[in-house]
Amino acid sequence: MATYTTVENARIGVLMGSASDWPTMKRASEMLDSFGIAHECNALSAHRNADLLREYLECAEKRGVELFICAAGGAAHLAGVVAAHTEKPVLGCPMQAWSLDGLDSLLSTVQMPKGMPVATFAIGGAGATNAALFAVQMLANSDSEIRERFSAFRKKQSQTVTSLE
Ligand code: RP5
Repeated sequence: MATYTTVENARIGVLMGSASDWPTMKRASEMLDSFGIAHECNALSAHRNADLLREYLECAEKRGVELFICAAGGAAHLAGVVAAHTEKPVLGCPMQAWSLDGLDSLLSTVQMPKGMPVATFAIGGAGATNAALFAVQMLANSDSEIRERFSAFRKKQSQTVTSLE
């Protein structure tokens, strides 16, 4: 039977429309791990697990999850559906999926109706990484430890980006 996993004290819920999105969304999870941010990852399709997704969101909010990173490809409705069921911020990651190089996913994720925002990132791996970093920046606003780690990350990135090794 389909189910979801939870992580104690998770601050972020990473959701994807299919386990086939995991190789890309693993990058978001690894980035959150590198900042020591507790999060939980689940593959729950907006279309194929509609009831379970709703149940998960209710449970996640009760446990204190503060925002959701949602990845989907093709008719990428997951982020929008999650936004409809929660008042927490929703970050959308369009997957490259199986056709149109992910342009279908990008438009399905970004073109939300007025009043229902989904902060949408680039197609594929860069977007997954940036969604995680954006989530880190949001948490850093009220968490000095995370703020320090983020500053250190940016300093290191500035130093390494010019290196040809
Ligand atoms: C979307 O369709 C998923 O998010 C995935 O990107 C794509 C393909 O899903 P599978 O057919 O691999 O389950 O719903």
